[in-house]
Amino acid sequence: MPKLTTAIRPLLALAAVAAVALPASGCGTSDADPERGRALFVQKCGACHTMAQAGTSGTQGPDLDDAFAAARVAGENDSTVEGVVEAQVEFPRPSNDNPAVSMPADLVSGQDLQDVAAYVALYAGVPGAAPPKVPGGAGAQVFANNGCGGCHTLAAAGSGGVTGPDLDEVLPGQSAAMIDESIVDPGKVIAKGYPNVMPDNFSTLISPKELEELVEYLIASTAKGGGKGG
Ligand code: HEC
Ligand code: HEC
Repeated sequence: MPKLTTAIRPLLALAAVAAVALPASGCGTSDADPERGRALFVQKCGACHTMAQAGTSGTQGPDLDDAFAAARVAGENDSTVEGVVEAQVEFPRPSNDNPAVSMPADLVSGQDLQDVAAYVALYAGVPGAAPPKVPGGAGAQVFANNGCGGCHTLAAAGSGGVTGPDLDEVLPGQSAAMIDESIVDPGKVIAKGYPNVMPDNFSTLISPKELEELVEYLIASTAKGGGKGG
C-alpha cells in the first residue's frame, strides 16, 4: 500500500463507509446526468471547493482534485469516488469543532445528489481535467463555466435553458451596470413571471475580471444592429 498522506486517510475511511452503505441505497449511476451535475456542483459546491473541470476555486473546503488524485493513485475507481461524495454530502464530517466552518449537510439530495456525485467521480483528480472549451472568447467561457445556459437561452452560446428569461430577448437595451447587477444580486429585482431561483453567489464564484468579460460578451452577443452606448 502506498504511503498515505493525512489528507487521504480520512477519505479512505469515508470510502469504507460508502462501500458498506452503497449496496443498500443502490448505485443508480446509470440514470445520473453528469452534465446536470456539473451545473449543480458549480452552484452548490464551487464556492467552497476548487475543482479544475468545474472551473471553481473555493478554498473553504479541500481542493477536490488534490483529495481524489490521491485516492485514484491508491486505486479507488469512479464508483468509490461517487460513494465518498454521496456519503460526505449526506453526512459531512465536521472539519473541526466549529460548525461555522464545516460543510452543511444535504446541500443536494435525490437525483441532484446522484448527478453531482457522478460528475465529481468523472473528473475530480483526473490529470489534465479542464472545463470544456467553448468558442466565443473569455466571456463565453465564463458563461459556460458557470452553467448560465442551463437556465437561460442565449443564441450565441447555443443554450436553450427556460428557467430564466431568454437573454436574447431581455438584454438588448440594458446597460452593463444593469446586467452586472442582475448577475451578482439576482434577488434585488425579480424578472416578472419568473421564480426567484437564480443562484445568489455568483459574486463569490466569478472574479471581477471574469464578470466584466461576461457582461461584455452578453452585450456584444445580444446587441442587434451593433454598437450601442453603455
Ligand atoms: C460552506 C462550504 C462548503 C460547501 C458549500 C461544500 N463543501 Fe464540501 N467540504 C467543506 C469542508 C470544510 C470540508 C472538509 C471536511 C473535513 O475536514 O473533513 C469538505 C469536504 C468535502 C469532501 C471530502 C474531501 C476530503 O478531502 O475528504 C467532499 C467529497 C466534498 N466536501 C464534496 C462537496 C460537494 C459535492 C459539495 C456540493 C454539493 C460540497 N462539498 C459543498 C466545505 C463545503
Ligand atoms: C438556476 C437557474 C439560473 C442560473 C444557473 C442562472 N440564472 Fe439568471 N436568472 C434565472 C431566473 C429564474 C431569472 C429571473 C428571476 C430574477 O430576475 O432573478 C434570472 C435572471 C437573470 C438576468 C436578468 C434578466 C432580465 O430580465 O433582465 C440576467 C442578466 C441573468 N439571469 C444572467 C445570468 C447569468 C449570466 C448566469 C450565469 C452566470 C445566470 N443568469 C445563471 C435563473 C438562473
